Amino acid sequence: MNTKTPTPGINTLLTHCGNDPRDFFGFVNPPVVHASTVLFPDAATMAARDQKYTYGTRGTPTSDALAEAIDALEGSAGTIVVPSGLAAVTVPLLTFLSAGDHVLIVDSVYHPTRNFADTMLTRLGVEVQYYAPEIGAGIASLMKSNTRVVFTEAPGSNTFEMQDIPAIAKAAKQWGAVVMMDNTWATPVYFRPLEHGVDISIHAATKYPAGHSDVLLGTVSANAEHWPKLLATHHTLGACAGPDDVYQVLRGLRTMGVRLERHQQSALELAHWLEGRDGVARVLHPGLESHPGHAIWKRDFSGASGIFSIVLDGGGTEKAHAFLDALTLFGLGYSWGGYESLAVHVWLGDRTVAKKDYGGPLIRLQIGLEDVADIKADLQRGLAAAGSG
Ligand SMILES: Cc1ncc(COP(=O)(O)O)c(C=O)c1O
Repeated sequence: MNTKTPTPGINTLLTHCGNDPRDFFGFVNPPVVHASTVLFPDAATMAARDQKYTYGTRGTPTSDALAEAIDALEGSAGTIVVPSGLAAVTVPLLTFLSAGDHVLIVDSVYHPTRNFADTMLTRLGVEVQYYAPEIGAGIASLMKSNTRVVFTEAPGSNTFEMQDIPAIAKAAKQWGAVVMMDNTWATPVYFRPLEHGVDISIHAATKYPAGHSDVLLGTVSANAEHWPKLLATHHTLGACAGPDDVYQVLRGLRTMGVRLERHQQSALELAHWLEGRDGVARVLHPGLESHPGHAIWKRDFSGASGIFSIVLDGGGTEKAHAFLDALTLFGLGYSWGGYESLAVHVWLGDRTVAKKDYGGPLIRLQIGLEDVADIKADLQRGLAAAGSG
């Protein structure tokens, strides 16, 4: 990075982190290196593998540019870049868990993380246990001598429960467990997990870093203690990402700060507006004073991104579908973090500990970059169709 200031602001960091243009003849952006083979100048260098790049799976100037950018944002010792956000979850779990180990996973976790734990980790002989998102320091009562990993995600997927990450990390450390966090919702712009005791920070870069609903990518960042093992597993698994996708995410980072400001502002305005609407029983957004995790969010996070949920006032699937089918601006789709508004009817059938009767259907809303007035009008259409507008 080229900035002269000792502690640059987040947007300065986003603008300049990663590659140094001087490394590539002054071109502002790094080259997109398509590579399997890397040539060596002579047999001795080849035998010793004594040069910076040795094979495409082990990094290129393009993947290094993104990894170094994420390190600057996360404050991490090293970052691996993997082909999806889901791979960013599975690779560190495979790195630090072995047969006979016990893993604690928050019950409000992204569903495919649970699926991986319940199928593959269980098959490999790992004991999987879920805990309530609000557990905080109480996690100590669930720790066992073989607990190797505590997996966190805050706020929780779809229901947006906050977790007391510093308290959980402190307790986990006393038992020697590795603390992981899926930090996709906040991005490093609004939360830096490693500064709160987390060892491994996970991102679906598919979301806000990519920002345009056209790329799948994941990043995993580790502190100095855990970086060598994470890197070794990345090489062992060969889970490298394609250069075009890596480049697109680096490109997306440059504007992520300003996009997030807009996502945050619009989502908060709409969350407040929805809180008072007929037909809406609750709004689940940690930035609202009414949210049970608001104090933790305020203490630890410096902002909120653009995704939250609403609870309709009673009814079931029919009402949820009426709401969704009346929307004309919102797309119906599962991912998020792109420029466009999206909605989905949330399914919570997988929960085992954080089971709750919300009293009506949950609709998750990703608030895009459209004008708030237009988004409001669309939501009003949905509420009217749901019979409550
Ligand atoms: C919190 C969270 N983590 C990870 C992922 C996985 O990302 P990807 O779609 O890139 O596999 C998602 C995707 O929705 C997510 O919401």
